[in-house]
Amino acid sequence: MEKGQAQWREKIRTPLQNRRESNTKMKLTRYGKISLGVLMMVIAAVVIGLIVYFVAYGKTPFYYHISFKVNNIDYDSKFQKPYSQEYIELNGNIVFLINETFHRSKLRRQYVTSHVVQVSQARGKPVVHTVLKFKSCYKNNTAKFRDRIKTTLHEMLKGDTGSLRIDSSSFKFADIAMPAAENLLHVCCGHRTITPSGNKIAGGMDAQEGEWPWQASLQQNNVHRCGATLISNSWLVTAAHCFIEVSDPKEWNVSFGLLLSDPQIQRGIKDIIIHERYHYPAHDNDIAVVHISSPVLYSSNIRRACLPEATVTFPPNSDAVVTGWGTLKFNGKIPNILQKGLVKIIDNKTCNSETVYGGVITPGMLCAGFLKGRVDACQGDSGGPLVRADSKGIWFLAGIVSWGDECALPNKPGVYTRVTYYRDWIRSKTGL
Ligand code: ARG
Repeated sequence: MEKGQAQWREKIRTPLQNRRESNTKMKLTRYGKISLGVLMMVIAAVVIGLIVYFVAYGKTPFYYHISFKVNNIDYDSKFQKPYSQEYIELNGNIVFLINETFHRSKLRRQYVTSHVVQVSQARGKPVVHTVLKFKSCYKNNTAKFRDRIKTTLHEMLKGDTGSLRIDSSSFKFADIAMPAAENLLHVCCGHRTITPSGNKIAGGMDAQEGEWPWQASLQQNNVHRCGATLISNSWLVTAAHCFIEVSDPKEWNVSFGLLLSDPQIQRGIKDIIIHERYHYPAHDNDIAVVHISSPVLYSSNIRRACLPEATVTFPPNSDAVVTGWGTLKFNGKIPNILQKGLVKIIDNKTCNSETVYGGVITPGMLCAGFLKGRVDACQGDSGGPLVRADSKGIWFLAGIVSWGDECALPNKPGVYTRVTYYRDWIRSKTGL
């Protein structure tokens, strides 16, 4: 309406008005030229600035693998568990020393991060393997860059190494290519790159890329059938009942990434190992491990979940998260985007009460959800993870989606395979 009036006013301009306007136009043109000139200069400056920036700080990542022996610490088998206090402390000390060294050096702007990726042993002492990441413009003079890093590290070993007595004669330094280095930098289980803010979940809701990096989709000829959890570069854990109809690995494949329609990585399957005491239609021992055709390399969006020790118990009423591409309601449709639901652990006694599942819950099962209903896993979530964060924010696989009476009904919470109960079985099949 307003626009229409303006158009009509333009049409009845007088000749005088037109003349005045053309004068203004000429003046504007002069001002225009000046402002155009200024604008061009600003654009040129920005472009030159950007070129200088990219030449000086161009982001080519470089990775190095170093190792050395620490003489004043005894080797401890707990160094093999990336969530153990022993490992966390050792990694913290090493990373602190390397951070300090590079932050005080001329390479402070190129140094990105470092991480202890493996601890081996030599004569009862730990040999610490660390990956270092740099970003630099030394695109065609990598040898010089490498030398500067090596020199800085040699100086570090000669100087004050704090509480660590490092055997400098054991120092080794090597280049490492990006995919392998990123794999090592993301080798710690139960970590994720993204921690979403405002984690208030009512029903299920959309997940974000990298939020549940261990989640996999088990597919039969590229059609989503079940969830699964990545526990190493080449093994997944899932539910046995996913393979009731088809257990030939050739008919299955696995995909990773947030969207079913746009997988980040896909793999075939080499082997499916179903629990020997799983007998359909009984729900007991609903667990299987799946060996993927070739290992996946970890990256910021693909990582493994931690397996809890057999002795761990998950306290009743504590928070856990179930994720999957299962239907949004019973007999509903499956989503394209991964869903997450915040649930509470329910103890077996409550879950076995008359009003709930009346005695069918066995020690190898674990219930989670709400007696009021509302949030639950559903059809197609089977085999997928129920995870719980420890006090340090490291995520452990507590359960495997197994069964339930429809979905999200009152007094019918989700029933999961209790992972701690099968911890030794998993080790016996995968060595993990
Ligand atoms: N068995 C179902 C499947 O094959 C999953 C059941 C989970 N149900 C539940 N209410 N939590 O996907």
